[in-house]
Amino acid sequence: MRNHRKIMIAGNWKEHFTVSAASNYLHRLEENVQNRQSIEIVLFPNVLTLQPLSQLDRRKFRLGAQDGYYEDAGAYTGEVSMAMLSELVHYCLVGHSERRHIFNESDDVVAKKSQAAVRNGIMPIICVGETLQERLAGETNQVLHNQVTAGLMNLTSREIGACVIAYEPVWAIGSGEFAKPDQVAQALDYIRKQVEHLFGERAAKNVRILYGGSVNDHNIGSYLDIPGCDGALIGGASLNYHKFSSMVETAYRVHQSRLEKENG
Ligand code: 13P
Repeated sequence: MRNHRKIMIAGNWKEHFTVSAASNYLHRLEENVQNRQSIEIVLFPNVLTLQPLSQLDRRKFRLGAQDGYYEDAGAYTGEVSMAMLSELVHYCLVGHSERRHIFNESDDVVAKKSQAAVRNGIMPIICVGETLQERLAGETNQVLHNQVTAGLMNLTSREIGACVIAYEPVWAIGSGEFAKPDQVAQALDYIRKQVEHLFGERAAKNVRILYGGSVNDHNIGSYLDIPGCDGALIGGASLNYHKFSSMVETAYRVHQSRLEKENG
């Protein structure tokens, strides 16, 4: 059966780059990165930078927001709503571990944000993953079960088609600690089974599941080689346009080899 899920290479810039540094990066990326229509490139700059970047040539990449609030408008000082973001972005990260752990974002908030994103025509990338303590206590599947169930709670099986899930084990984020590909394979498989259990086979087949956590230009191939892995969400290594372009090229090679296999 043919896999229609397009590989996504996403760069989460977190709290990096001023407007001019971000524009500079994009011009350089534009020169470096090959136009690979079969790979979806998505960049997640800080919210201030989204507007100016949205004016640049975007044939090679799409924009995403790192966060967005679930109320469309109102007296919520400091917040930017999904409704406002919808003019600028295709995607929005929801429940990134830094939001969960540093800003105490609960599963309930994550659920409201995914729903608000979908309601406003933005595809949420719902981030899930266990801490080191949870992994060592053998609770990884339980945590993934809880976060996937909660994050998708307000959505219908039809709307799942507009969602992406990112498995990002907290212990592998920004730590240089690499998750082994078989650990990632197990988690991705478990997440897809959860989606199947909640929304059926079709939704599970269509939903894209990414891996994130210390992905770089040297190890990305080992994650993209996992059959159920539909791309990578990259933090630190995405800040270097040479590395980022090289990761897009690796994704393209993986895509080509998947095609060859499918065509026998
Ligand atoms: P690093 O690639 O820096 O580990 O960050 C991963 C991440 O949090 C992407 O969202």
